[in-house]
Amino acid sequence: MTSLSILLFPDPLLRRTAAPVENVDGAVVELIDKMLDTMYAAPGIGLAATQVDVHRRIVVIDVSDESDSPLVLVNPELVLAEGEGEMQEGCLSIPGVYETIKRPSEVRVRAVNREGEPYELDADGLLAVCIQHEIDHLDGKLFVDYLSPLKRSRIRRKMEKLMRDGDDDDEAPT
Ligand code: NI
Repeated sequence: MTSLSILLFPDPLLRRTAAPVENVDGAVVELIDKMLDTMYAAPGIGLAATQVDVHRRIVVIDVSDESDSPLVLVNPELVLAEGEGEMQEGCLSIPGVYETIKRPSEVRVRAVNREGEPYELDADGLLAVCIQHEIDHLDGKLFVDYLSPLKRSRIRRKMEKLMRDGDDDDEAPT
């Protein structure tokens, strides 16, 4: 099992826009599988290729309690987003930071799966939030962008201190 290294905020590479995948070939499948390994090992419930410094439109998600329902979204596109909800979000690229973010509560996403087949999926709750959070990553956007500039710069300083001093956080690893 290979874990890829995850870029941390405020790394400017997290701001790149990912390019569409033309063909789900062997190399893409290999990347998907490594991303799933990396996500489960972290552990996390979602990972975008951008976070492992591959700037292509690939997302993996698993919001199941048993971590046994991987969802693969290649070239994901929201075709519908409605309602409004609030949920606490975190991110593998911003460890230890959790903030309540407002987003549409129901989405329909169109994507291509690991087999290269297109599909559509309706989602609400945590899955809807996760899909939007991960698609944001592909567009170089992070959940802290929804916060006030003051709050965001506080988080940036906290992350920079963490990277300088090492992991001195007394919170449980998540
Ligand atoms: Ni994230």
